[in-house]
Amino acid sequence: MTDLVRDQFAGQSMYSDGDVDNNQSDNPALSTVVDRRMSRRATILGGARATGAAVFGSTLVTACGGEDSPFTLTSNDPASATLVATAGSMVDISSSNDDTSASGQSSSAVSVSQIQGSPVELLTDEGLPNSFIAPAVSKPTEFSFSVMKDGRRKEWKVKVEPAKLKFKAVEKNVTDEVTVPKGYSVAILTALGDPILSGVPAFKNDGTDVNYAGRIGDHGDALHFFGLHPETGRRDDNSSRRGILAQNHENLNVQYLHPDGPTTTAAGARPEEEAIKEIEAHGVSFVEVRDTAKLGRREGGKKTRSTWEFVQGGPLNRRVTPNTPTEIHGPARGSDLLRTKFSPQGTAGRGTINNCANGVTYWGSLLTCEENWAFYFLRSGDDAQRSPEELVALRRYGVTSSSGNYGWSSVSANIWPQDLFDKWDARAKTDDPVDAVTDYRNEPNQYGWVVEIDPYNPNAAPRKRTALGRLGHEGAWLGKVTPGKPIAVYMGDDSRNEYFYKFVSTARWNPRDSHAADRLAIGDKYLDNGTLYVAKFNEDGTGSWLPLVFGQVPNPAGYEFADQADILVHARLAADAVGATTMDRPEWTATNPVTDEVYLTLTNNRASSRPITAVNAPNPRFYNDPSPASSSNYGNPNGHIIRIRDAETNPAATRFTWDVYLFGADAQDPEQPGVDRNISQLQNPNDFSSPDGLWFSRTQNAAGQVAPLAWIQTDDGSMDDRTNDQMLAAFPGRVGDGNRMTVRGKDAAGMTSSQQSVVGTEATSANLRRFLVGPNECEITGVDSTPDGRTLFVGIQHPGEDGSPSAPSSNWPQSQSGNKSGRPRSGVVAITKDDGGVVGL
Ligand code: FEO
Ligand code: CA
Ligand code: CA
Repeated sequence: MTDLVRDQFAGQSMYSDGDVDNNQSDNPALSTVVDRRMSRRATILGGARATGAAVFGSTLVTACGGEDSPFTLTSNDPASATLVATAGSMVDISSSNDDTSASGQSSSAVSVSQIQGSPVELLTDEGLPNSFIAPAVSKPTEFSFSVMKDGRRKEWKVKVEPAKLKFKAVEKNVTDEVTVPKGYSVAILTALGDPILSGVPAFKNDGTDVNYAGRIGDHGDALHFFGLHPETGRRDDNSSRRGILAQNHENLNVQYLHPDGPTTTAAGARPEEEAIKEIEAHGVSFVEVRDTAKLGRREGGKKTRSTWEFVQGGPLNRRVTPNTPTEIHGPARGSDLLRTKFSPQGTAGRGTINNCANGVTYWGSLLTCEENWAFYFLRSGDDAQRSPEELVALRRYGVTSSSGNYGWSSVSANIWPQDLFDKWDARAKTDDPVDAVTDYRNEPNQYGWVVEIDPYNPNAAPRKRTALGRLGHEGAWLGKVTPGKPIAVYMGDDSRNEYFYKFVSTARWNPRDSHAADRLAIGDKYLDNGTLYVAKFNEDGTGSWLPLVFGQVPNPAGYEFADQADILVHARLAADAVGATTMDRPEWTATNPVTDEVYLTLTNNRASSRPITAVNAPNPRFYNDPSPASSSNYGNPNGHIIRIRDAETNPAATRFTWDVYLFGADAQDPEQPGVDRNISQLQNPNDFSSPDGLWFSRTQNAAGQVAPLAWIQTDDGSMDDRTNDQMLAAFPGRVGDGNRMTVRGKDAAGMTSSQQSVVGTEATSANLRRFLVGPNECEITGVDSTPDGRTLFVGIQHPGEDGSPSAPSSNWPQSQSGNKSGRPRSGVVAITKDDGGVVGL
């Protein structure tokens, strides 16, 4: 790595792998492996004997007839029998006891109709007319079916029990592949360099590929599946067969983008060809994906492997890059602070960068969030040209690099207009503010926003929503909406000791807006006017949202706000001034769609940034996480997840209650006397460190209803001696399901802390379980499912980030199929349950 590009890694940790952990995860409830053949013997109308326990799909079902009870349908047969399934499971009401029934070959002879319970959808259009997904229930609930075969009728009851985590926890591991539980399959859907626009050649993955503006970008982060109708290709929020996969491309494994890594010219500048690739590999991708099996190529009656593929040249395929024209919207539009040489009016910009987590609106658009944008700009050596106030603001946001990540402003252009490189040079060339329209001193103010993009209209310019404030935006997740009430957007600012924010719209939700044709106009309505708040947490489990409104916010030291635009451009300064609570790196937010409680991951903090004297109620721990590589890793190295409940679950509430839902910890580390470390009582099947991605299952399927499943993804540098990064599935409880606690800490010098906090109920193998472990040196980030919950999309970011072109430290995704060679690529996997049920349940 050259000096010029060395600070691309500023703020990122570089990790190495350690020992394999062979500890067995075990859950007795799942220890019974039931032969798939048994399901053939337990079919409802079959003549064979049922056993006491049988399998419908992989659902453990119990036939009430018991051992040796004949289930032969005869005129003397009992009127009914009962089976048991759990929510989300595939229930297979097959017609025959032979193996051909599972292929659907003999289903034509059977007719199934439901006679009791909320209607379930028989999977007729998948060639499985005798199967359905057990629906979500809050208590055991009976569903009855009348089954006709050869003129004979029998009534079958299926007792559906509440959802459970039924997969066996994946063991911690450092294998260079994505590992998932038995009974699940992993397929690579997209990866860095995949050609998505027409005419772009296949990816060679040797550092010579170009035209990343037509390919999947690098460092795939948050993702979302926007449904398309299988036939018409129009927006269809309930389609699970075809959609647009939208994914952020946060950053680069720059060493693999070029034949021998990044270079500089003799004059110390970056070669233009390299910079072009690096710039275009950032941004957001939109690519059509489809399940070919469900589109008519199902093989047999069961889906036993993923058949997802992306469509090169799909009509909605698009790349948004750091060059794509954007519009500035909201209160900061036209502000002096946003005027640049490109947009003297301060109303337009180019591109988006370091897109990390996301949000999705109720009107079908994507919110992509600009996180570590500050480090891309060259901005040092111009202090004499800046006012003292400007310097306060630039330092508060970290716009202080002496080169900018990757040194793009050093390029001497021949291919692109020079201006596309000059914009990364944010130095003021004069000391006269009037000249801000002759250089790019204000360009950094055009980044750090939540950006709304319409995935269904590739021609619409992204809109930067300045009402939501300028931060190191991790994500922007909407709370539950209620007709007639405002919309709330919850947002973390990911840097050490930053804050938790909420935006509340002025407009009140009208459900008719959810299907408006002009989605960005609906965005204007809800996201351009409202109030930005920042969170203050109290020790007693209460908290308040403090409004960041000009005239109400005191001026911080060294800075005087001019107007509301100034408050929003410098939201961090405003939050400082009102006394917001510092947090241990706020990452993703997620809303439990049933309780409407909002969760926030706090990935970690270190003693160097947050000493033991700075513990506070929502960030109460201070301890050590030793590893073979280092005996000293003090602070809150494993992170935690906090959750809040707005008063009366009103999105506009200015008061809330909170607790810490879950604390990360290394379960294999020894306890430290007098220190509360593994507060959530994690064990080998569910210990984790540094939560980052966080998402609740969709409300259209059993995993997102009644007791929604939460998915937790890690970006860890503390427990990587035990395992690669991972994803867990959880059934969280509610705010206040635990207790107040005095959390005791101790630092390396023996200083102690005693901090009041409120902690949630402990983790168990029933409410938290490891679902996935990723390949070497990756981070797991980005998750969504199809609306039916039967395909889960998961992002694998920066595998092999510490390797080199000549010695890659991961070979993923090639390694997923056993090929241990080639450069690693970030990618998206499609995970399916082999029996076709809802993933995770
Ligand atoms: Fe881009 Fe905070 O993760
Ligand atoms: Ca450890
Ligand atoms: Ca992240």
